[in-house]
Amino acid sequence: MNGVNVKVLDSVRAFVGREHGLVIDGQERPSSSGERFDVLNPATGEHLATVASGTAQDVDLAVAAARRALPVWQGLSPARRSELLWNLGARIAELSEEFAQLDVLDNGKPVFECNVVDVPLTTGLFQYYAGWVTKLDGDTITPAGGSPFHVYTRREPVGVVGAIIPWNFPLLMCGYKLGPALAAGNTVVLKPAEQTPLSALRLMQVIAEVGIPPGVVNLVTGFGPSAGAPLAHHRDVDKITFTGENATGQKILEAAKSNMKRISLELGGKSPSLVFADADLDAAVNGTFGAVYWNQGQCCIAGARVFVERSVHDEFLARLSAKVSEVKLGNGLDPETTMGPLVSAEQQDRVLELIGSGIASGATAVVGGGRPSRPDLQNGFFVEPTVFTDVRADMRIMKEEIFGPVAMVGTFDTEEEALALANDTSFGLASGVWTTNVKRTHRVAAALNAGVVWVNTYGMFDPAIPYGGFKMSGFGKELGREALDAYLQTKTVWVDVS
Ligand code: NAI
Ligand code: MG
Repeated sequence: MNGVNVKVLDSVRAFVGREHGLVIDGQERPSSSGERFDVLNPATGEHLATVASGTAQDVDLAVAAARRALPVWQGLSPARRSELLWNLGARIAELSEEFAQLDVLDNGKPVFECNVVDVPLTTGLFQYYAGWVTKLDGDTITPAGGSPFHVYTRREPVGVVGAIIPWNFPLLMCGYKLGPALAAGNTVVLKPAEQTPLSALRLMQVIAEVGIPPGVVNLVTGFGPSAGAPLAHHRDVDKITFTGENATGQKILEAAKSNMKRISLELGGKSPSLVFADADLDAAVNGTFGAVYWNQGQCCIAGARVFVERSVHDEFLARLSAKVSEVKLGNGLDPETTMGPLVSAEQQDRVLELIGSGIASGATAVVGGGRPSRPDLQNGFFVEPTVFTDVRADMRIMKEEIFGPVAMVGTFDTEEEALALANDTSFGLASGVWTTNVKRTHRVAAALNAGVVWVNTYGMFDPAIPYGGFKMSGFGKELGREALDAYLQTKTVWVDVS
């Protein structure tokens, strides 16, 4: 929190420094083991907060509270539940500066990113889903056999939802999960990432303040094995919604089979950006920059495998490299900062190791390629924004999710080759296409094997637009009406009216 341009709100300072317990049934309580853990500021490496470390016993209590709250939440009229979700979104907007600072302190990202995406999109999500609460209708269906039955469907909540979220968008991920889960009438046990629990803790206060009944949302802070895994294994949890690493997603799938939990998995990616020679090159450079470096590259959708048509490759590479060279690393609370630190020393190590493997396997870092040398950045978890050329498909940097500020720029000669390169991955989350050719746009959009295709833009999100991956990137859409479907189950009612 030091540095000339860095100002922290008094309210944020006070909140960060308070005792942080678990929140179960509306009550704040210590972990049943009494254990706590430290949360660091990634920009400085300094201690930021001390948070309760939840255990399996705490998960039991939280799940029981969520179960008891189900009839309470479902007993409110849809109009009232809608109003509560709308008001939650509105209150987050009022507190936007506070929420933005909490996520910057916890995660490191530059504050402008919170102001343009994380906080307003969280508000938008709660308010979009508020609109759905009064519109969750079933169907009346005529049996094909023409028998004397009146048949209708009811769309019912699945029940108790466990939400396990990562650290890259701490507040926003709460909104992704809570918005549709609560709108559908479920109650929730939320497990934020151990690196970034603060905005979720503050959100719990706001949830209570707007009048959402105790137990409807419960918060268990803590680590994956000790708090996340018991939630994923719990036999009284009806659904798990998870965002994070593939290996963790596989563990959650395994855990879910005990009681056939419903599952939504939003996992990693290795998304391609295709730049055709007919593209608006300025737009392609700016858009690709955002696709790779937003949030320090810690985005599951990062479009970091960049393939450029040969005739414009050199110019594109020169312009992208120039833009990356202008990045100003620093504390995310400093308004001058355009890129912050990575979230943790562990993440910094992972990314530096992968960058090193790229160099060792023959890729050329035309910009960056290591740790920044600036003295004021040595205690934070910084990595230089990096641009690689001379990349080959067999390199680890072309296959593994890096989750750091690293672009790999390659070339192609034909559309067919571009598509083959783009689809040569076990992931299928997102993709970007830069072209002014309308026919090519739709041909390529259909041929890309990914859950999202952005054309002449990248990383656009909206509460109403479904989002989610193909292949190893997971299943179960988020956002939009489709996300609601993942938190509802259909009951069919047959009535003999003869
Ligand atoms: P992770 O998937 O291990 O952690 C995400 C969440 O899962 C956290 O809340 C964590 O406590 C919880 N968790 C961990 N192990 C668990 C278990 N066995 N059972 C239940 N919950 C568990 O991700 P991590 O280790 O923080 O990051 C590692 C890599 O994962 C990153 O380098 C990145 O490549 C990828 N990742 C992808 C994200 C995405 O948005 N798709 C988000 C975060 C990480
Ligand atoms: Mg992990």
